[in-house]
Amino acid sequence: MQVERRKFLHDACKACLLTGAGFLISDLTACSPATRITRLPIRDDTVRLPVTSFTRQSMQIVRPEGWVYDIAVRKTAGSQYEALLLQCTHQKNQLIADGNGFTCTLHGSRYTVDGQVKKGPSEVALKKFATRLEQDQLVIQLKS
Ligand code: FES
Repeated sequence: MQVERRKFLHDACKACLLTGAGFLISDLTACSPATRITRLPIRDDTVRLPVTSFTRQSMQIVRPEGWVYDIAVRKTAGSQYEALLLQCTHQKNQLIADGNGFTCTLHGSRYTVDGQVKKGPSEVALKKFATRLEQDQLVIQLKS
């Protein structure tokens, strides 16, 4: 009886460790620079991020607090920025950045880095948000 209990605890602990390691590995993968998502609080229908965050990467993926969709924010030329909702215009699936634009994993639509449709079934470009600079902050207007 004592041996069975010990073996049960041993096996249960091993299963927990393996499961925990699996979650840790998947979390580490999600934190890679290409897929890192910055969560931002919403204030007055805007989210803000420091302009310095574009020093090393011209594109940031952000998610406003409570939203299920991400926004790709890209520094275009000079002090110009573009913010695109990463929601597929076909059937509202979350898009992922693929290095050359955005891809929908549901039916395969692809968009250019500036949100134009590159491959259907989507026919409509991605939604753009207005942006403006305020001192050292990029402000993204979530509602017009
Ligand atoms: S939902 Fe994206 S292609 Fe259909």
